[in-house]
Amino acid sequence: VKKIVVLTSGGDAPGMNAALRAVVRTASHYKIECYGVREGFNGLINDDFTKMGPRSVKNIITEGGTILKSARSLEFKTPEGRKKAYDNCIKHGIDGMVCIGGDGTFKGAQIFCEEFGIHVIGVPGTIDNDIFGTDNTIGYDTALNTAMEAIDKIRDTATSHNRIFFVEVMGRDAGFIALNSGLATGAIGILIPEKKDSIDELFSTFKRAEKAGKASSIVVVAEGEKLGSIYDIAKATKAGFPDYDIRVAVLGHIQRGGSPSCADRVLASRLGYGAVIGLMDGKTNMMVGMQSNKMTYTEIEEAVKKHNEIDQDLLKISEILSI
Ligand code: F6P
Repeated sequence: VKKIVVLTSGGDAPGMNAALRAVVRTASHYKIECYGVREGFNGLINDDFTKMGPRSVKNIITEGGTILKSARSLEFKTPEGRKKAYDNCIKHGIDGMVCIGGDGTFKGAQIFCEEFGIHVIGVPGTIDNDIFGTDNTIGYDTALNTAMEAIDKIRDTATSHNRIFFVEVMGRDAGFIALNSGLATGAIGILIPEKKDSIDELFSTFKRAEKAGKASSIVVVAEGEKLGSIYDIAKATKAGFPDYDIRVAVLGHIQRGGSPSCADRVLASRLGYGAVIGLMDGKTNMMVGMQSNKMTYTEIEEAVKKHNEIDQDLLKISEILSI
């Protein structure tokens, strides 16, 4: 490869900048020209390419968000949009592409790669941790710690007022943030889409907590929980336990921001480096990941289709330890 582009797409995640820095500096080390594309695939379509070198990414390893900006491009979903993007790549002599993002990004990258043959490597960047082929995605650890710190704060006020708090965390259709932040904060209940939850079961948990002498409790609810919205669940609980003083807190986008954790900076640096090395090795239509501390490459198609399993032990441990 001689000339590559790098872009960040989909929901931003802390550590995307660290990954970008690693791509740009690895490319520079191996004398590969590198262009940053703004606002995800939209930048490919709109010819928004900027040449980048080691100094263009100075001091960004500490920064949340993405200096390239991000978008979920609707135009790139159309054949016409992708053709425009391809024409711009050809105009600039691009022969490799690094796409940092989640499953939506990878789906777009895969189609583009298959239609036009441009070599593509995906770098998993999403707080949701819902990508197969890597133990962790970039941003997940930071989001998890943000959620944990927020829930700790909610715990303080819940205890002072003998309240029951339902706290919603992000994760789209996955429960990784909910499960791990719930365990880390001693939540009595963790509701995630990967397991079948029921109101009866939740009520039994409250009864157990009462018996154990608990005066306040936290229930962490994944945003993708199938039982219903967090407000429905809170309402049903109030109907079952009219004496409970219940509050709902939706953590929302604070989970997407902030300076990346050390683990995310290291992961992003390794994966950004691995993406460029992969392109140099002639790999394409693959995602670079870290599994059991080893760098691996997984077909993008597989990364998007398959799912990392929820650790059932964690659920059991959280249940045993929270009472
Ligand atoms: O994929 C990251 C994520 O933050 C999900 O957890 C959440 O469901 C979604 O993006 C929110 O998207 P938006 O920023 O478009 O509201």
